[in-house]
Amino acid sequence: MPRPIQATIHTAALRHNLARMRAAAPDAKVWGVVKANAYGHGIERAWEGLRGVDGFALLDLQEAERVRALGWRGPVLLLEGVFEARDLELCSRLNLWHTVHCDEQIDMLAVHKTHQPHRVFLKMNSGMNRLGFAPERYRAAWTRLDALPQVDEISLMTHFSDADGPRGIERQLRTFEDITRDLPGERTLANSAASLRFGADSAVRGEWIRPGIAVYGSAPDFPDHDIAHWDLRPAMTLSSRLIGVQQLVPGDTVGYGSNFTADAPLRIGVVACGYADGYPRHCNTGTPVLVEGVRTRIVGRVSMDMITVDLTPVPQAGIGSEVTLWGRAVNGAVLPIDEPARAGGTLGYELMCALALRVPVIVE
Ligand SMILES: Cc1ncc(COP(=O)(O)O)c(C=O)c1O
Repeated sequence: MPRPIQATIHTAALRHNLARMRAAAPDAKVWGVVKANAYGHGIERAWEGLRGVDGFALLDLQEAERVRALGWRGPVLLLEGVFEARDLELCSRLNLWHTVHCDEQIDMLAVHKTHQPHRVFLKMNSGMNRLGFAPERYRAAWTRLDALPQVDEISLMTHFSDADGPRGIERQLRTFEDITRDLPGERTLANSAASLRFGADSAVRGEWIRPGIAVYGSAPDFPDHDIAHWDLRPAMTLSSRLIGVQQLVPGDTVGYGSNFTADAPLRIGVVACGYADGYPRHCNTGTPVLVEGVRTRIVGRVSMDMITVDLTPVPQAGIGSEVTLWGRAVNGAVLPIDEPARAGGTLGYELMCALALRVPVIVE
């Protein structure tokens, strides 16, 4: 029998979350952001839940090929554009739309031989200082692209650095609007946080929103808000079972480094899940988990293959009992991925992307 750990991808939750994003940004088209193998969910596994999008946005050319191989004939956008000139051949062949964020990409396009002109998304660096043309250089890049026979339509794009936090989007939005005011073309600005928080504003939602994390059921602005606040559902559950039980007496310690000491009699369970499964090692004593759908806590250190949990709130639990590390338990109780992520000093993004290859995944 294999180890009892398992991840489940919830098709209905993906559909629900997508509908939530559409409601948050009415009339906007939706890019389903499926980079990093659909944020760790698996492009093919998430496909049934996500095929209601208007287009798929990703980074990797191989991932674009996988989306086409699934039969998707609609828009596919490369969020970082091409990495070298020959990537443009694949763009022509697979009809991929691509971001243009630097002069070098325009140079490559200018010498690209294609019968079919490309649709490009011209990216402005409106303040995040990762990819994109500086605002004062943006219009010159637009003019250059517009003159190329290899290009047939230019859309306008930027990305917010603080849509999930108190700094917000105001400054970047103003910069983008000032520079692009009289330029034609569709616009795309908003990630999950911007769509949920500011999607009612037509200038923010533009023609296309680009939600990723919210579609997968993690709150982009946790802990200010949780998934219940945004009416999102976990698209991934990581579950396992108890494979051992120990009865501690006061003074007993648990796990490597003995960094938890029982101060009273304590029954603990040993879970078949560890950092080699993608569970963060930094989740210390107190990190929430569900045992048989009942909330309890980790005690002691996370090790490679095992986690130890306090069974006090679930006295009936024993070997074989269901454990939910994140997601939804059989009894319907939900442990948002954001909670263990925060306890481990990280984000839901990282946990879902880091699900280990050795964890079997099923689609529900
Ligand atoms: C350019 C771009 N757009 C959209 C997204 C989706 O962001 P989120 O997952 O926060 O919704 C990302 C992700 O980082 C991105 O890089």
